This record gives sequence, structure tokens and C-alpha cells, in this order.
Amino acid sequence: MIRARCEVLSNRRTGRYHSLTLVAPEIAEDAKPGQFIEVGVPEGRDILLRRPFSIHQASRRGGWAGTLEIVFDALGPGTAWLAEARSHDVLDVVGPLGRPFNDPGDLSTCLLVGGGYGAAPLYFLAEELRAKDKAVHMIVGARTAERVFKPLEGKRLASSLVFTTDDGTMGELGRVTDALPSVIKRTGAQVVYACGPNPMLRAVGEYCRDLEIPCQVAVEELMACGLGICWTCVVPFIALDGRGWWNVRACVEGPVLNAARIWWDRWLGASADDQTPPEGFTAAPEPQLAKPWPR
Ligand SMILES: Cc1cc2nc3c(=O)[nH]c(=O)nc-3n(C[C@H](O)[C@H](O)[C@H](O)COP(=O)(O)OP(=O)(O)OC[C@H]3O[C@@H](n4cnc5c(N)ncnc54)[C@H](O)[C@@H]3O)c2cc1C
Ligand code: FES
Repeated sequence: MIRARCEVLSNRRTGRYHSLTLVAPEIAEDAKPGQFIEVGVPEGRDILLRRPFSIHQASRRGGWAGTLEIVFDALGPGTAWLAEARSHDVLDVVGPLGRPFNDPGDLSTCLLVGGGYGAAPLYFLAEELRAKDKAVHMIVGARTAERVFKPLEGKRLASSLVFTTDDGTMGELGRVTDALPSVIKRTGAQVVYACGPNPMLRAVGEYCRDLEIPCQVAVEELMACGLGICWTCVVPFIALDGRGWWNVRACVEGPVLNAARIWWDRWLGASADDQTPPEGFTAAPEPQLAKPWPR
């Protein structure tokens, strides 16, 4: 993990989102798909905590070598400030943070499912998977067409790509989970990687678990320190034998987790006081995905 003062190379609109490219050679060199950075908001503003953002691209070669790109939605004071950052501004950045997506090992057909800006880390993942000769298929969804994340780049990266929008303004009408069964069937996906709103991750994870397809999800939970110290970001995680559970920190043990072992009901509120994991829970599939991403 590196703390660096990073110059803003560019900050531009891409659909509904803002795309910020930073000169960050040391962080870019170490970054892996699924990891994130934390950006500090300068003194003089009432924003104490750094803001976490997934790494969308980390360029190590070519004309953009040594740069990092994040893409964000301006929702509140921190992101509104970031949206105003100009070329040559200098940001205080910590990263790369968290556990990345795991290498698919011998599995050759990968399906990447992204919702809204949650698709951001999947494009970085798609590049790395393609470099390993894996077949990459994608489902990218959003509420409306303008929130569909970088559609042209998605088309460039994936062997097949299905767009979905809640209002039908682009691609298929509906949610990514509506398209999931047919895409898994058509592509023969052997492993699923997903990032997006937590209810979407739950639906994708539960569907894959029923089919015994390994599924890794990059979760989003409120983060105070981003460094494993404060335990703000906990996610309930079930033991492999289903007989117990513990909290994992999304910022260090995550954000990428095995979807089949997340105790979704407890995490997302339906059974927040329960102490016993759901009956009949069986060990989740996690075959080759136990290895960290090799470089
Ligand atoms: C690992 C991780 C990766 C993320 N990647 C991206 C990304 O690629 N693009 C993007 O647009 N956003 C991403 N987020 C969410 C982003 O961090 C928040 O939108 C941002 O912190 C909001 O700050 P704010 O000051 O603008 O808004 P606030 O006024 O603080 O909040 C606006 C909204 O964002 C939520 N929020 C606030 N702080 C956080 C936080 N620390 N983590 C999660 N949600 C928060 C609030 O609940 C509220 O709904 C990510 C979050 C995490 C944890
Ligand atoms: S945000 Fe502090 S431990 Fe995760």
C-alpha cells in the first residue's frame, strides 16, 4: 500500500459519470482488478474521511503508463468536490487497497456482471482475463441509458455483451439478473465476477450458488479508515461448514468476496439480530479461486 501525491492528468464526463485519470506510477504498478484507492479531500473542507473508489484502469505500458483511472458518480460533497478537480491539481491518494478478484485458474469462460458504476473494476478485470486468453462475456446494466457504463469500451473488451436498463432506454428492458440465466446458458460460463449495488450482487451470487458456479463479488460498504482499523465496513461471512460466522472487513478481507459465503440476510438487514447461519448452508464452491491474482 502506497500513499502518494498524484497529479490529475484529466477529469472528463463519460455519460452520467466522471472519469478521473491520475499520474500514479507506483500504485498503478501494484494495482490488481478489484482493488480500490482512497482519495483524501483537502484541508479546509468539512470532509474528514477519505473516499474509496474502485480502480477502473491501471496502465503499466504504452503512452498512458503509470496512470490510474477511477470513474465516479457525483453524489455528495466528497464526489462533488472531486468532480471539480482540474488537470495539474494534486490529490492525496492511498492504494492499491483491498483484496482483488482471484485468477480463474483453469476455468476458461468468464462472465462479468456489472451494475451502474459498479462495472468500473470489471473492465480492468476483462483486460487481464483477455491477456490470459480467457473467454470474456459481459452483462452491463443500469437504471437508464446514460448510466450504462462505457458501452463502447465494453463492446471492445467482451466476446459477447448484453446491456440491460430498468427503463428499456438501452439494451434489454429489465435488470442484469433477468439476463443472467440465458447468458450463463448460452456462454457456458464457468466463473462469474460481479460488482454493483449490493442487492444485485446478492441475486447474482444466489443464482450462481444454486448452479454451483463460483462467483466473486466486489462489495461496497461504508468505509471510515479503509485500512482495516475501525471495523466500520464489516460483512457477515459464513464458515465453510456452515456452522458459524464472523465479520470480515470489506476494506482488507474484501472488497472481493466469495458471494456464496456472504450472509446476505444478516448483512442487508432482514435478520440483523440472528446469530445462527441459515439452516442447510453447505460449503460454497471456491475451486481455483483461492489463489491471489498472479502478476
Ligand atoms: C470499495 C469501494 C469502491 C467504490 N467505488 C466507487 C466507484 O468506482 N465509483 C463511485 O462513484 N463510487 C464508488 N464507491 C462509493 C463512493 O466511495 C461513495 O459514493 C463516496 O464515498 C460518496 O462520498 P460523497 O462525499 O460524495 O457523498 P456522501 O454525502 O458521503 O454520500 C453520498 C452517498 O454515498 C454513500 N457513501 C458515503 N460514503 C461512502 C463510502 N465510504 N463507501 C460507500 N458509500 C458511501 C452514502 O451512503 C450516500 O448514499 C465505492 C465505495 C467503496 C466502499
Ligand atoms: S473501513 Fe476501517 S476497517 Fe474497513
